[in-house]
Amino acid sequence: MKVVAIDGPCGSGKGTIASILSKKYNLVNIDTGATYRCVALASLRNHLSLNDTEEIIKLSKEIDIKIDLNNKVYLNGEDVTDEIRSKAVTEIVSPISSIVEVRKNMVDLQRRMANNYDVVMEGRDITTVVFPDAQYKFYLDASLEERVARRIKQNEEKGIDMSYDEVLENIKFRDYNDMHKEVGSLKRTAEQVYIDSTNLSIDEVVLEFVKVIEGDLNES
Ligand code: DC
Repeated sequence: MKVVAIDGPCGSGKGTIASILSKKYNLVNIDTGATYRCVALASLRNHLSLNDTEEIIKLSKEIDIKIDLNNKVYLNGEDVTDEIRSKAVTEIVSPISSIVEVRKNMVDLQRRMANNYDVVMEGRDITTVVFPDAQYKFYLDASLEERVARRIKQNEEKGIDMSYDEVLENIKFRDYNDMHKEVGSLKRTAEQVYIDSTNLSIDEVVLEFVKVIEGDLNES
């Protein structure tokens, strides 16, 4: 089993790059953020607040989350691919992903999803917790300004109505929260290849990944 693991903050381009790499190298693409987004959506639908920790943990065990080969996301059999990107979900997903028991359940699920496949997996703790022994470990980064600009463009394309300030505040809040979790926080390590995509085109970023993956393949 081959694992390409990519961590990084929101808006750094992980999703775009994972999708390109999955096609180029025939890897199953697993967006781990989608699993936390499903727990957030299920919590909203069950009218739970962020204080209802025990109920959220219970829900995270009970719900059925699937990601198909076209990256469609299913919650209890229903296609929620678009709904998990909504503003309401985006606002609560980071605190929900801080709940230690929820993380345990999602990490187990993510490992099961990867079982027996060659995968590219992106998130915040893939290189450190989910697959610390992955063959390829990357940290993809970009400046805050660039990430806000990218997210605004993406929201426009998806018809999500969020102002510049809302996006900026949400990204700042999630950056802080995601980097200060008790378990599974986003961090840089010496084992990751660090790529700053701020001033690079998508093709240029892909090239940086390819150099590492193929350089390594040539050696083996
Ligand atoms: O990648 P994303 O924006 O869809 O992720 C949504 C949230 O889920 C993000 O704010 C942090 C959390 N997350 C996490 O804690 N660990 C992961 N491996 C992936 C996402």
